[in-house]
Amino acid sequence: MAEPFLIGENMTGGYGGADILHGCTLSVEKGQIAVIVGPNGAGKSTAMKAVFGMLSIHTGSVRLDGEDITALSPQARVAKGMGFVPQTNNIFTSMTVEENLEMGGFLRRDDISGTIEQVYDLFPILRDKRRQPAGELSGGQRQQVAVGRALMTGPRLLMLDEPTAGVSPIVMDELFDRIIEVARTGISILMVEQNARQALEIADRGYVLVQGANAFTDTGKALLADPEVRRTFLGG
Ligand SMILES: Nc1ncnc2c1ncn2[C@@H]1O[C@H](COP(=O)(O)OP(=O)(O)OP(=O)(O)O)[C@@H](O)[C@H]1O
Ligand SMILES: [Mg+2]
Repeated sequence: MAEPFLIGENMTGGYGGADILHGCTLSVEKGQIAVIVGPNGAGKSTAMKAVFGMLSIHTGSVRLDGEDITALSPQARVAKGMGFVPQTNNIFTSMTVEENLEMGGFLRRDDISGTIEQVYDLFPILRDKRRQPAGELSGGQRQQVAVGRALMTGPRLLMLDEPTAGVSPIVMDELFDRIIEVARTGISILMVEQNARQALEIADRGYVLVQGANAFTDTGKALLADPEVRRTFLGG
């Protein structure tokens, strides 16, 4: 089989104490959506940080588009085409919406105005609120700012850690629709989701992570249909 567009393979590591990840493997194909679900504390955010280079792993590797990037810093990975929206503190609350987007594009040498327009086309409410401090926005709007900021680097892979945390079901559906739209442009999506059912419905590939290791891996549909996955992780 051909190499996936992104793969974090056999990742073992943690924060200096005991290992949190134990041979964890995650991958996503070009323009597809991969979703990571699992209980609180399973290591989902830790696995995302490992893929993004915020955590050193002592086994395994991370490869993007066939290139081994295991030794690269997060900033160097951004330059290679990775965008990451962390679970918390993912926007600058005292800056305006537009300043947040501009910050997202700070690594770029070319004109970013076209990308800002693309973000506003994707999330029209942000155009209306572009002069407002991001801290004055609703939870769902802030998440749009965070996703928009990550899109400003022109990523080939967008990593989202719980993009729908704290938003209403309607806003969640809308965010998922926008994420699907982003994937259709050819950008690969790797995301962690607490709303496991809904997220697996849009997932080309799903991962159930338990105690830092892969418990189940399959298409989103197959995981939703798996009786054991349903009983253990999806509430029946
Ligand atoms: N910065 C850190 N330093 C030390 N340990 C950490 C750190 N961040 C997380 N951990 C530990 O790593 C383990 C996995 O945490 P992680 O945040 O990856 O879980 P998660 O699956 O994302 O959980 P949640 O669903 O609550 O977001 C936990 O035991 C946690 O205490
Ligand atoms: Mg987490």
